[in-house]
Amino acid sequence: MNSFDFSTKIASKRFENPIFTASGCASSGQELSQFFPLSEIGAIVTKSIMNKPRTGRITPRMAETPSGMLNSIGLQGPGIDLFLERDIPWLVENKAKVVVSIAGESVDEYGVLARRLRAVQGISAIEVNISCPNVENRGQVFACQPDTASAVIETVRRNIGGELPIIAKLSPDVTDIVEIAASVIKAGVDGLALINTLLGMVIDLNTMQPKLGGKTGGLSGPAIRPIAVRAIYQVHQAFPNTPIVGMGGVSNGRDALELVLAGATAISVGTATFSDPTAVIKIRDELKSLLIERGFTDFKSAIGYAHRQSA
Ligand code: FUM
Repeated sequence: MNSFDFSTKIASKRFENPIFTASGCASSGQELSQFFPLSEIGAIVTKSIMNKPRTGRITPRMAETPSGMLNSIGLQGPGIDLFLERDIPWLVENKAKVVVSIAGESVDEYGVLARRLRAVQGISAIEVNISCPNVENRGQVFACQPDTASAVIETVRRNIGGELPIIAKLSPDVTDIVEIAASVIKAGVDGLALINTLLGMVIDLNTMQPKLGGKTGGLSGPAIRPIAVRAIYQVHQAFPNTPIVGMGGVSNGRDALELVLAGATAISVGTATFSDPTAVIKIRDELKSLLIERGFTDFKSAIGYAHRQSA
């Protein structure tokens, strides 16, 4: 059991194991640290940070759905200044591997954020969130069009400088996710995060109005897992050498294994953390056991295995 190599890589960066948090579901890790040492998971992916502090959308911001939930947080956050002053030093002190997620209202804002992060010590990668569904208008979901998606990534690439891997977070709410993946790969990403939430709505039958203050929200949880598996499978088939951080309704080790077999290089756990803050640790251990049971001696050999069998 001890000889099993559970490590994974995104570009030049090595992670001890492939289980990460998902952006937005564990802030910058402070709350989770009371349940386990953050150094025990592959990485903390921080809540997408913007240039200025932001209060987010009006409440209510969450609604339960069959096998999932809707959120309409609206990218609430402290802004880059406080994040760099408070959260990054705390994460480094707690020996966490850190993937910083960034979001912007314009291409320029992404460039500004990349410049602020380029020389910061203790960051393993940047997730460029171009797919938040809870923005003022659909034109700000840069991941919905190949040209806007690539414009953001080119700007981040130019401003981030040499070493830091860039991971683009894509939306499943498109006709052809492979086309969007192709555009951001051409623009210089080192990896992809698949998938963000899907745009949804719930109507309260008593008030007969949308339940969420912002009306629409992002659907997550087990209900979206088959969509994540499909998107990861399609993109891995087209770009087998591009690392994919897979996410979407992973609640246990079996779910994680499904995404790995489809082509995920790492797995982010999000919604499951709300009902069980130790879910990331349980999923990490279950995934390792499942891989060993199936005869794997390292994690990397399982990535995209479903393609090899169906080729
Ligand atoms: O509303 C939010 O803050 C969600 C962001 C996201 O899904 O990327």
